[in-house]
Amino acid sequence: MNIPKHVAIIMDGNGRWARRRGLPRKAGHIAGAKSIKSVVLHCNKIGVKVLTLYAFSTENWQRPKDEVDGLMKLIKNYLKNMRSYLKYNVRIRFFGDLSAFSEDMIDKMNQIEQEFSKNTGMVFGIAINYGGRDELKNAAKKIAFLVKNGELNLDEIDEQTVESNLYTKGLPNVDLLIRPSGECRVSNFLIWQSAYAEFYFMKDILWPDFRPRHVDMAIEEYNRRNRTYGGVK
Ligand code: IPE
Ligand code: IPE
Ligand code: MG
Repeated sequence: MNIPKHVAIIMDGNGRWARRRGLPRKAGHIAGAKSIKSVVLHCNKIGVKVLTLYAFSTENWQRPKDEVDGLMKLIKNYLKNMRSYLKYNVRIRFFGDLSAFSEDMIDKMNQIEQEFSKNTGMVFGIAINYGGRDELKNAAKKIAFLVKNGELNLDEIDEQTVESNLYTKGLPNVDLLIRPSGECRVSNFLIWQSAYAEFYFMKDILWPDFRPRHVDMAIEEYNRRNRTYGGVK
């Protein structure tokens, strides 16, 4: 079995999961948060190098205030309990514009990245206030700044220059992108990094019901795909 190096998952369907049970959307997010750990540990165990989970997009601020507040509370709580991952040897990286968060949350995220940096296992990426367009816009700004300051020549700019100015700097591109909940779109997730990803959209499963065996299903399908990257194989 060929294990994809970088697996990315759009954790979607929490709201529908709750609605089907006559519960508030918040209950769906709480249930969804509980799906995370076993999926992370499973990916680490089977040899995935990077697992990125989409937790909060730059567009999710548009949701009703009490839902956003609930999500922030949930994320804060999650951060508080992240030390429990330490013993599994995973590293943790946050991808996104973190400046939107409160100072104590930013401190906590920096502290977690630091604390886990000694580990050597899978990189667990958490995309939070993440938007692919925002990421590329920021990369363009950083590169423009280098050119303006005479630190970089215009003709030296190549794809590597862009890549090294993304949140995912130094990490492999996405091989397999999984989205439960039935939506067949990327919703601004890792748009540069997924240029040649295999997409696996799942109709019959919502994120709170997502389990390690669904990762295995996606990887089995991934192994049946013929990745040609524009060539012939
Ligand atoms: C994903 O579930 C969670 C976040 C976006 C934070 P949704 O809340 O989008 O669930 P649906 O799509 O409404 O069912
Ligand atoms: C994408 O899901 C964002 C996250 C899962 C964090 P959304 O539910 O926000 O995306 P759309 O609205 O279906 O495109
Ligand atoms: Mg959704």
